Amino acid sequence: MAARFLKWISLISLLCLSFCGLAENKVCQGVTNRLNLLGSKEDHYRNMVKTYSNCTVVLENLEITYMEDHRDLSFLRSIKEVGGYVLIALNTVSRIPLENLCIIRGHSLYDGRFALSVFSNYDKSTNKGTDQILLTSLTEILKGGVKFFNNQLCNVETIQWSDIVNAGNITIDPTPSKNKNCGKCDSSCFNGSCWAPGPQNCQTLTKLNCAQQCSRRCKGPSPSDCCNEHCAAGCTGPRAEDCLACRDFQDNGVCKDSCPSLLRYDPNLYQLVPNPHGKYSFGATCVKSCPRNYIISDYGACLRTCSGNTYEVDVGGVRKCARCDGLCPKVCNGLGTGELAHVLSINATNIGSFENCTIINGNIDIIVTSIYGDQFTKTPKMDPEQLNVFKTVKEITGYLWIQTWPDTMSSLSPFENLEVVQGRTKRGSRSLVVARLHITHLGLRSLKEISDGDVFVSKNSELCYTDAKHWQKLFKSPHQTVNIEGNANAATCALRNDTCDRKCTADGCWGPGPRMCISCRDYKRDGSCVDSCNILEGEPRETVVNKTCIKCHPECQPMNGTATCSAPGSANCTKCANFKDGLFCVSRLCPKMSAASFGGPGLHSLHGPGELLLWLCACLLDQLAV
Ligand SMILES: *[C@@H]1O[C@H](CO)[C@@H](O)[C@H](O)[C@H]1NC(C)=O
Ligand SMILES: *[C@@H]1O[C@H](CO)[C@@H](O)[C@H](O)[C@H]1NC(C)=O
Ligand SMILES: *[C@@H]1O[C@H](CO)[C@@H](O)[C@H](O)[C@H]1NC(C)=O
Ligand SMILES: *[C@@H]1O[C@H](CO)[C@@H](O)[C@H](O)[C@H]1NC(C)=O
Ligand SMILES: *[C@@H]1O[C@H](CO)[C@@H](O)[C@H](O)[C@H]1NC(C)=O
Ligand SMILES: *[C@@H]1O[C@H](CO)[C@@H](O)[C@H](O)[C@H]1NC(C)=O
Ligand SMILES: *[C@@H]1O[C@H](CO)[C@@H](O)[C@H](O)[C@H]1NC(C)=O
Ligand SMILES: *[C@@H]1O[C@H](CO)[C@@H](O)[C@H](O)[C@H]1NC(C)=O
Ligand SMILES: *[C@@H]1O[C@H](CO)[C@@H](O)[C@H](O)[C@H]1NC(C)=O
Repeated sequence: MAARFLKWISLISLLCLSFCGLAENKVCQGVTNRLNLLGSKEDHYRNMVKTYSNCTVVLENLEITYMEDHRDLSFLRSIKEVGGYVLIALNTVSRIPLENLCIIRGHSLYDGRFALSVFSNYDKSTNKGTDQILLTSLTEILKGGVKFFNNQLCNVETIQWSDIVNAGNITIDPTPSKNKNCGKCDSSCFNGSCWAPGPQNCQTLTKLNCAQQCSRRCKGPSPSDCCNEHCAAGCTGPRAEDCLACRDFQDNGVCKDSCPSLLRYDPNLYQLVPNPHGKYSFGATCVKSCPRNYIISDYGACLRTCSGNTYEVDVGGVRKCARCDGLCPKVCNGLGTGELAHVLSINATNIGSFENCTIINGNIDIIVTSIYGDQFTKTPKMDPEQLNVFKTVKEITGYLWIQTWPDTMSSLSPFENLEVVQGRTKRGSRSLVVARLHITHLGLRSLKEISDGDVFVSKNSELCYTDAKHWQKLFKSPHQTVNIEGNANAATCALRNDTCDRKCTADGCWGPGPRMCISCRDYKRDGSCVDSCNILEGEPRETVVNKTCIKCHPECQPMNGTATCSAPGSANCTKCANFKDGLFCVSRLCPKMSAASFGGPGLHSLHGPGELLLWLCACLLDQLAV
């Protein structure tokens, strides 16, 4: 359902309001190089200018390293917010201007613990070092601690870190700075705390100095100066619009604990419908659409990568995460590619690299040394069981060549899920070769396409089920040919009763039994041909879609003498097993979301708004499963 309405949301460019100053935001990714020098110091500097110029929100980390004394760092002034950590190390530049940075979220931490790490910004041999780090707006570090050591910084010892840091260790090198360039904090600074001399560089307190009534931060000592609970860093007034930064999400200038949901419940339709005001969460901001190159999740977030049992797909130009049907797609190198570029065959040494592969980018060659090993290259014999690693493979981009096979295997069953042989690379003109094996049937029951290259099935003395006709249907290019010769002859096969199951059509089959048919004479269920579906009897009751038996929804009442459902889904039952809610059969009834129904029957047993909410959620989830 979510997939459908996402199409309506077009990609527009990302415009949103920044806090810490309410200007237009430019979001940039940030880096994780830690202390690595990227190329020369000149390259390193240029890379940093490119990464952070004009950037107001850094999604990941801000790393300032190896900046020498002549460098112009004024481009850092635009930065207001950092999602990960801030690292300032190994610099000798005298001033690091970060006057507008007001919040460090600490979603990732340096050394696993620190949101702000400042060290070794001093070179003993040249006696050059950083004097000032101007963090005059920094009022909140949401997560992680602070660590300063081996610097010669001025004024930092006056900073009251407990006003800034929420949860984390504060480790400040106790040895006082011997720096002669240091000046004193301005006399107007509260409790003598500043980042540099001058009244503009005093530390702004937003926590230690608040009235007791304030839940988190404040803009001054009076009870009326408390900030809204959704604020981070501080505020200019009491409302959620007056925050300097948001603890959780910022939606069009207002701080919230979550972004407006993409779906809302329509009480007339008894359904979740797209919410025209819904937004995606992108970092700590709510956006109408995800920026380009980001993946859209069904739960309304902009993601960089798909995780869990999902993989990235393109749905009409929009990147999404799709649930994997079984194993997630995994592309592996075949022979002729990557680390197998110069390897001649699959063998006991390399077969392990094909575990869980669904696409093989390259070729598969199985020859005598594959199975029986090779003393010269110290390749051991293969256990036939190991070939089953190929059961996950659906596609081979090159060719499949099999000229030796274990005598204990009567078919090519390890390739029973192979759907496509592309033949982008061929041996000679051939993309599928099966020769001189002792198999009785091919068993390639999923094979749907041989995109290019010829087929050669030869001298497999016991092989039946080799009708040449059906190969033509798998071909996609005009000049492909099939050569089938020297296998078991038709008379021998008929005598051995090695003929297609009667449930198969005249298209033929890949071997004995109803699972090997190329197409079914009547119906199909779970990949096997069957005479009929469970329409009027049999468990579970079914319906027919495209000559395939599909289970009726579990909320349908099993019927005798008539069909139980007309289509899959809980809106197509003949009769409901439990309740009918609008069009749908449900296990319980959802309350109507109108004032009248809140007092209506069925709800008396619910106590308090919490329980009502739980009940409603359970109902909505039922609806989602439709
Ligand atoms: C930063 O913004 C200014 C003014 O908008 C523009 O001239 C400059 O090219 C931008 N720099 C980078 C690196 O994007
Ligand atoms: C602070 O440091 C101590 C010792 O290094 C450690 O045990 C503790 O877990 C740290 N606390 C936090 C919040 O990181
Ligand atoms: C003033 O600073 C000192 C240390 O510099 C600290 O112990 C004291 O608690 C601070 N006072 C206030 C009101 O924050
Ligand atoms: C077996 O595989 C290993 C690793 O890929 C390779 O180095 C070796 O040449 C192969 N042996 C044969 C006989 O193909
Ligand atoms: C293959 O997939 C299984 C099941 O998902 C998993 O447990 C296993 O670790 C995977 N192996 C490799 C090498 O990816
Ligand atoms: C051939 O197979 C069919 C069904 O599998 C069976 O009914 C029949 O008796 C078999 N005939 C021979 C000669 O084995
Ligand atoms: C039925 O099969 C046809 C052809 O394979 C396909 O185009 C169609 O989408 C299928 N319909 C359903 C409901 O799966
Ligand atoms: C259908 O028949 C079964 C067994 O005879 C019976 O248990 C069930 O209640 C019947 N269902 C209906 C809807 O009549
Ligand atoms: C299934 O139910 C939906 C909703 O009532 C309806 O639009 C659709 O036509 C039904 N399908 C069949 C095959 O009855």
